[in-house]
Amino acid sequence: MLPYGKQTIEKDDIEAVVEALQSDWLTTGPLVSTFESTFAQAVGSRHAVSLSSGTAALHAAMHAAGIGRDAKDEVIVPAITFVATSNAVLYQNAKPVFADVNPENLLIDPADVASKITPNTKAIVAMDYAGQPCDYAALRTLADQHNLILISDACHSLGGAVGGKQVGSLADFTCFSFHPIKQITSAEGGMVTTDNSLAATAMKNFRNHGITTDHRQRKSQQQHQYAMESLGFNYRLTDLQCALGLSQLAKLKRFTRRRNDIARFYRSLLEPIEHVRPLKTRSGIEHAHHLFVIRWDRHSTGLTRDNAFEQLRERGIGVNVHYQPVYQHPYYVNRFGDQTGNCPQAEQVYQEILSLPIFPGMREEDVRRVVEQLQAITQAQPRSLPKAA
Ligand SMILES: Cc1ncc(COP(=O)(O)O)c(C=O)c1O
Repeated sequence: MLPYGKQTIEKDDIEAVVEALQSDWLTTGPLVSTFESTFAQAVGSRHAVSLSSGTAALHAAMHAAGIGRDAKDEVIVPAITFVATSNAVLYQNAKPVFADVNPENLLIDPADVASKITPNTKAIVAMDYAGQPCDYAALRTLADQHNLILISDACHSLGGAVGGKQVGSLADFTCFSFHPIKQITSAEGGMVTTDNSLAATAMKNFRNHGITTDHRQRKSQQQHQYAMESLGFNYRLTDLQCALGLSQLAKLKRFTRRRNDIARFYRSLLEPIEHVRPLKTRSGIEHAHHLFVIRWDRHSTGLTRDNAFEQLRERGIGVNVHYQPVYQHPYYVNRFGDQTGNCPQAEQVYQEILSLPIFPGMREEDVRRVVEQLQAITQAQPRSLPKAA
């Protein structure tokens, strides 16, 4: 089975982790701050705070943004995203309000965001679906007009940019994930970037139980006392993970170039195939191509997206679907009621999307095989005899 995504781990990545294993610090040691400062520099942000996952990064950003201080706080999130984006709003006891997406690129639609702003709205979350940066200029204008915080869920888009400005420097808070499927990996891991020094300190405390110093600082100051000043969590990233993250970060440009080459090749091969339409790319952006998503035309093929999914899987092509509108999940229906019709574009386009395999280690013949199978399934013979009349 050709997977839809796969990490690239090389010899020097392994050596970096082994070296960290042999050091004095397995968890919060010197590699944490080295990874953070190198990351901040790479994306053009003043601060980077590492966390144990992208989900923890979103939670820390919501906390530092003050979400949930007021019981009625609302945060606008895209309807099509991984559940972690809106779950982070719930962790802070605030209410996620879903905005529709543009069906051409599945990015949050600023016009729909504008229509969902209320006096209780505190923040907007932009999610760079598939690795394509959102319309940050439009979202920033809205945020400034209504005094809202702009949070970027960039778990797909490390390596992307808008007008030459890196993702990580386009919002008040930008959250990244280093899950193996992402642009770079630390096994599990996450990061928040921000230019706000107070917020960076708040997130460092938040990831460490709300305690204001870490074990290493106390050791170097020969102190045993510590102060817990707020309620936090254990969301720390280990030195082992930072060793891997640092080693991978040095490869980000190469990985991103390769993903873009594969995406271009897909587009050229898919051009003549009418029932498969890749998502559109906005002008002026650099795409990180975490995913390569197409829209499947069920009318011309007579196959639903789910038929196509099943048949491609049977043929060894590890396609996937990203994502069902969050408010359709049972937890959200039980808690907030049936929101069917709230984001019609998201509901419609969800029926059509398929994520094709894309990862830096993919070879030319892999891409050709995916495209051949996309064509072959529409020409396949029926596998059962229709019932007699
Ligand atoms: C858009 C989005 N947000 C958040 C997350 C959560 O990241 P993690 O798996 O590192 O917790 C993911 C990861 O799958 C994601 O794709």
